Amino acid sequence: MEVVVCKTKEEASKLAASIITKAVKANPKTVLGLATGSTPVLMYDEMARAVREEGVSYREVRSWNLDEYVGLAPTHEQSYRYFMNENLFKKIDIDLANTHVLNGLAEDPAAECAAYEKQIKDAGGIDIQVLGIGSDGHIAFNEPGTSLSSRTSVVYLTPSTVKDNARLFFGGNEAEVPTRALSMGVGTICEAKKIVLLAFGANKADAVKGMVEGGISQFCTASALQMHGDAWVFCDEAAAAKLALKDYYAWRSATKLAL
Ligand code: F6R
Repeated sequence: MEVVVCKTKEEASKLAASIITKAVKANPKTVLGLATGSTPVLMYDEMARAVREEGVSYREVRSWNLDEYVGLAPTHEQSYRYFMNENLFKKIDIDLANTHVLNGLAEDPAAECAAYEKQIKDAGGIDIQVLGIGSDGHIAFNEPGTSLSSRTSVVYLTPSTVKDNARLFFGGNEAEVPTRALSMGVGTICEAKKIVLLAFGANKADAVKGMVEGGISQFCTASALQMHGDAWVFCDEAAAAKLALKDYYAWRSATKLAL
């Protein structure tokens, strides 16, 4: 796992976006795995800037998102489909037909999840998977106690995630946050060829510590990334604050990025 410690989230977002921009320039048919939440917003802005100013094109890119709340229609303002349309897809030249978000209204959620896995496989797998991390160490909606080999399925949010997401996206109203979601599994995520995880702010410091320097455990599902051969963690100083080897990671990653 390569940990890139930046002074600010702006700097980290630019660096992470440059990995995606470079990949799309090199291979216009890149397959992306995308995340929602507050964390990737600046990175998505930077990707959109590269489309406007550097002529990068997403016309042939295909994407699969990590997760979606059960019970929310794609038009619901808190749905992850709506989030993606507003925060990225409308700002780049991607064909909406090439973008995939799990259907939170699927009558048969298990069939929806199985079909999603098959779509990703048929596309040749995810080239670059974007991730955020929950304050409890989750990736996608794989909460503590989820098997590290889990596949896309219906999952149950912990009270702490409901609280975090209410604060950020539901005007603080916990009662409005769905408690179930459809989510890619940890096993599904770990099959991506490259992983780019972003973590910002002091409330992510414990989760980052667990992910990078804790043991591999289903109680911090992000720790599964320790087994991945090409996982990059971009964080700001606050999120990296509890890492014992913070300075070493910063030096090592700066050296590798300069190559
Ligand atoms: C979002 C997702 C979640 C978030 C995580 C952090 O698609 O899968 O794992 O990445 O909950 O959320 P923020 O970025 O809002 O702190």
